[in-house]
Amino acid sequence: MTGRPGSGPEPLGFESLAIHAGQPPDPGTGAVVTPIFQTSTYAQSGVGQHLGYDYSRTANPTRTALEQCLAALEGANRGLAFSSGMAAIDALLRQLRPGDQLLIPDDAYGGTYRLVSRVHAPVGLAYQPVATHDLGALKEAFTPRTRMVWVETPSNPLLRVIDIAAVAELAHERGATLVVDNTFATPYLQRPLALGADAVVHSTTKYLGGHSDVVGGFIATSDEDLADRLAFVQNSAGAVPGPFDCFLVLRGVKTLAVRMDRHCANAQAVVELLSSHPAVERVHYPGLTTHPGHEVAARQMRGFGGMVSFTLRRGEDAAVAIAGATRLFTLAESLGAVESLIEHPHRMTHASVATSPLAVEPALLRLSVGIETITDLLGDLSQALDRFG
Ligand SMILES: Cc1ncc(COP(=O)(O)O)c(C=O)c1O
Repeated sequence: MTGRPGSGPEPLGFESLAIHAGQPPDPGTGAVVTPIFQTSTYAQSGVGQHLGYDYSRTANPTRTALEQCLAALEGANRGLAFSSGMAAIDALLRQLRPGDQLLIPDDAYGGTYRLVSRVHAPVGLAYQPVATHDLGALKEAFTPRTRMVWVETPSNPLLRVIDIAAVAELAHERGATLVVDNTFATPYLQRPLALGADAVVHSTTKYLGGHSDVVGGFIATSDEDLADRLAFVQNSAGAVPGPFDCFLVLRGVKTLAVRMDRHCANAQAVVELLSSHPAVERVHYPGLTTHPGHEVAARQMRGFGGMVSFTLRRGEDAAVAIAGATRLFTLAESLGAVESLIEHPHRMTHASVATSPLAVEPALLRLSVGIETITDLLGDLSQALDRFG
């Protein structure tokens, strides 16, 4: 391949960008895979004369490849990689000033809520949890000090769907920016910048890495001024990923499209099983035509994703027992990797919000449906659920 991938007359497709964007063969050696540049510093030919890299907190070639690749997938001009999803979220929150108000989903990821309420609020950030899927409630929550609207769609753990284009229009009318946490959907299923969002944030720990072997974060934006301010925080605070972590995410991303197709198909089959099982009270999945956000999801997403949550008729005790009774679904936090996981949000991922307005129903279980053989997954869930059906 010659030239920059995607720079020809025909834009490259998603799968091609995932494999090639930011990753031309190494000019020094011809290596087809972007090398892990495990170096902290770079030789200078004269004072201040270098090849674009002087210190690896500021920039590293493996990180540059990752930033260019993920930016291309989100359709962004700029991308910034961080050492975790929380570090990326923190860099965005640092764009706000004391007295500014942030609107945050009332079912936000617990770690995001903890960072807002216990790290940024004590130094002056005002915030308001709001049902971001309800445009009327969102309109009501704006104040003259609202500067940023934060949404997760589909949300964690209730899989609520937010109409990104409608919220972007509202936020911009009121002089606020819109940030979308696109961790659950990934750019393969949903591209928030094309729908009007100002920035997209990811925990690359999840589907982008895809193999439960790396922790990382990422921000994509086409707002050059915002990107410059984020790059300043990235370099000043220094929460950057190491080159090996960047390599792992780059490798994971190459198979994102095929993995997501299988995650979606397996989740759909799991949802069908859950929906007809007597032990199950309610299933949350945007692919269900009965889901309140189904129409919006069908419009703004290519598929409905691999995350499913559901409540048990027999309450918390049944939920906890089922979480401990599956064999192939591993009981663990996190999500988005090839292996299937089950967790109890009330006591696990969302324990930090148990006494807040974001508290999660104790009868709820969350599944990250992996890409194992679907009959094995269905058999595993059935044997656990049948004890309570
Ligand atoms: C939706 C969402 N955003 C952000 C994060 C935080 O990412 P990390 O754990 O990589 O810091 C998570 C982690 O579970 C998440 O689920």
